[in-house]
Amino acid sequence: MNDLAYDTQPLDAQPEGDGGQAIPQPAAQPSMAAADTRGYKALPIPRINIQAFCEDDRTAQLLSEAAQDRRLARAHTTVQMGGIQAATAFYRDASTPNLILLESMRDQDTMLAELDQFSEVCDAGTKVIVIGHVNDVLLYRQLVSRGVSEYLVMPLTVGQIMESLSNLYNESGAEPIGRVIAFVGAKGGCGSSTICHNTAWSIAEVVRSEVVITDFDLPFGTAGLDFNQDPIQGIGDALLSPDRLDEVLLDRLLSRCSDHLSLFAAPGTLERTYDPGPAACEKVIDTVRRNVPFVVADIPHVWTEWAQRLVVQADQIVITAIPDLANLRNAKNLIDRMKAARPNDKLPILVLNQVGMPKRPEISISDFTSALEIQSHLVVEFDAELFGTAANNGQMVQEISTKAKACERFTELAFQLCDRDEPKAEKQSVLESLLGQFNLKKLGL
Ligand SMILES: Nc1ncnc2c1ncn2[C@@H]1O[C@H](COP(=O)(O)OP(=O)(O)OP(=O)(O)O)[C@@H](O)[C@H]1O
Ligand SMILES: [Mg+2]
Repeated sequence: MNDLAYDTQPLDAQPEGDGGQAIPQPAAQPSMAAADTRGYKALPIPRINIQAFCEDDRTAQLLSEAAQDRRLARAHTTVQMGGIQAATAFYRDASTPNLILLESMRDQDTMLAELDQFSEVCDAGTKVIVIGHVNDVLLYRQLVSRGVSEYLVMPLTVGQIMESLSNLYNESGAEPIGRVIAFVGAKGGCGSSTICHNTAWSIAEVVRSEVVITDFDLPFGTAGLDFNQDPIQGIGDALLSPDRLDEVLLDRLLSRCSDHLSLFAAPGTLERTYDPGPAACEKVIDTVRRNVPFVVADIPHVWTEWAQRLVVQADQIVITAIPDLANLRNAKNLIDRMKAARPNDKLPILVLNQVGMPKRPEISISDFTSALEIQSHLVVEFDAELFGTAANNGQMVQEISTKAKACERFTELAFQLCDRDEPKAEKQSVLESLLGQFNLKKLGL
């Protein structure tokens, strides 16, 4: 028997033990088509061709749903029936695509025999995922030894499929891909850029991870001012000629604010108008995300094709809103739109900003959040002196006062966005605090 012609990839779930054992797989949800967000860490799949040959209608339905996921937006995915045999017949006269998913409901021997036949028509370089209905380590090993990249056992969820594809295309050794976090305001002037810049600062200085802020508010963006940077063209140049943008040019266009934080600043001038196409924005984001683990996108309060695409395609979304009626209506529309466009993703994170402004009537936080049907949110209080001083000095609020409540919120949000646990301050024991109080440590007690 010939080995399959496709390449073997390292599998992240290596089974242990003898034949007959079950392959450890994440528990599936009861309904195969149920949307789940467990694959939310899955990263986008490159512009590849994917062809699936199913035997079960429910699997075909599930894969068709997965094909609609934002992370597969660039890939071209086709789903058809007929299983391994149909695939073998189909590719006798055609070259195989980048990735093939083959479902088999046959017994083990028939499945392996069919796969061996398929190997004769499969081009080198094509990755193969087999979807089966038998959870068995021995079978898994036989498939891996034939060069199959992954063996998935039904029932599966869209989230699990996204996770497997992401692992296959974003494994170690491949080009790293950073996470994109889009910050949008429910209404102009609600403080979205302020929240965005301060959170990015916390990612850089508190979580200590590399981050780039990309300011998409080309005529009016304030990232340059907020970080006290001399105006440079930055992102304006990149969006005007996206094809020229590579790592070298990116380095020239970025302003470095600190060891971990760089800025893709907006020109902030009105000499010319900018109407970047979605493709140019995508190219800029792609180039940046190949160079840093976190890309923070400051999106202006517009709803153009490119702005919408940036938000929908982001790995995480932060919506900032002030507790009033117009913000509530817009935040609700944004969340509903995101629920529809990103059914397999976590909901956006809501930041209620400028809460408690003296004399301003407000919708209560509980009424606001229950109307939006979201579980978690962060509250940043109104503090004219703190935020005003920071804005005028070209500093972040954390640099003005580390004790301000807002700083805790930005740290909390930064850790949440980086999927990291915030280190809890070690609590002193009663004895330690007494020793400290009376300075008895010096006495050796
Ligand atoms: N919690 C707060 N307390 C007091 N002032 C704040 C607070 N948050 C933001 N501000 C101030 O509100 C103003 C508007 O903030 P910012 O520019 O971040 O809003 P935006 O939503 O990005 O606006 P735009 O629609 O122009 O993009 C700024 O002067 C900022 O300093
Ligand atoms: Mg803004």
